Amino acid sequence: MLLSIENLQLSVRDHQILRNVSVDVAEGETVGLVGESGSGKSTTARAALRLVPDGARMSGSVRVCGNDVTDPAVVRRVRRTMAAMIFQEPRSVLNPVRRIGDSATERLVHVHGMTRAEARTRIAELFVEVGLKDTERLSRCHPHQLSGGMLQRVVIAAALSIAPRLLLADEATSALDVTTQAEVLALLRRLQREREMGVLFITHDLHLAAAYCDRVYVMKDGSIVDSQKGGTILANPVDPYTKALAEAVPLLPERDPSEARR
Ligand SMILES: Nc1ncnc2c1ncn2[C@@H]1O[C@H](COP(=O)(O)OP(=O)(O)OP(=O)(O)O)[C@@H](O)[C@H]1O
Ligand SMILES: [Mg+2]
Repeated sequence: MLLSIENLQLSVRDHQILRNVSVDVAEGETVGLVGESGSGKSTTARAALRLVPDGARMSGSVRVCGNDVTDPAVVRRVRRTMAAMIFQEPRSVLNPVRRIGDSATERLVHVHGMTRAEARTRIAELFVEVGLKDTERLSRCHPHQLSGGMLQRVVIAAALSIAPRLLLADEATSALDVTTQAEVLALLRRLQREREMGVLFITHDLHLAAAYCDRVYVMKDGSIVDSQKGGTILANPVDPYTKALAEAVPLLPERDPSEARR
């Protein structure tokens, strides 16, 4: 198992954020984690890299490629070589005053000991792999000069730079328009097949998760309330909350027919 979270409980002060969460991701598998805002999806994924809120109390077990991440030395090795996260909202993780090339090569230089030139060559290859063009000019840009889709590809390339076995993709495509979203999803799928990577795919969109993932977990108020194969979850939701999500279609106000003439 690439990721094995068992009975994870996490609380900050008196607020319990995760309740008995168990989540597995096997080699080559895409596993969805779905739920409304605040249900604990990001907290679950971050726990895999031990990125927990200050003062958090935890119990249960979290293993990445068989390694227990409660040991600080182990978690450093896990982050260096085994698991990478695409964080929700790339603009908030990229330093706005640093050039894209410097941010994207940071881990290769500081953690993997590559020279700057080696890291630049490696990241340029990855930029091309994720569908970015004109990589030299792009590397000199600052985050505000790039569109959301380009930034998303940059953070995916940076996450893939360590050749992770496990990718934690937190709303990796939610901020993108539908066409770019489809391109990024196809790209992740291709890279995943080529590398036998396991992916934890976090989204609030059950329909997307059902179509894209091998298995889907549904979270509500810090608990896993449903867990099924992607192909069956929409047709056969077990939990009432999953059923409500499956039936949820955005409500748009009806158009006044006279508007069309105006
Ligand atoms: N650093 C923190 N300190 C205290 N509470 C936190 C912290 N980070 C998150 N929480 C709380 O944990 C709960 C779960 O948050 P989390 O970000 O995991 O939800 P989410 O499912 O990823 O939501 P979204 O879909 O909006 O990204 C929320 O109630 C949130 O307020
Ligand atoms: Mg989140």
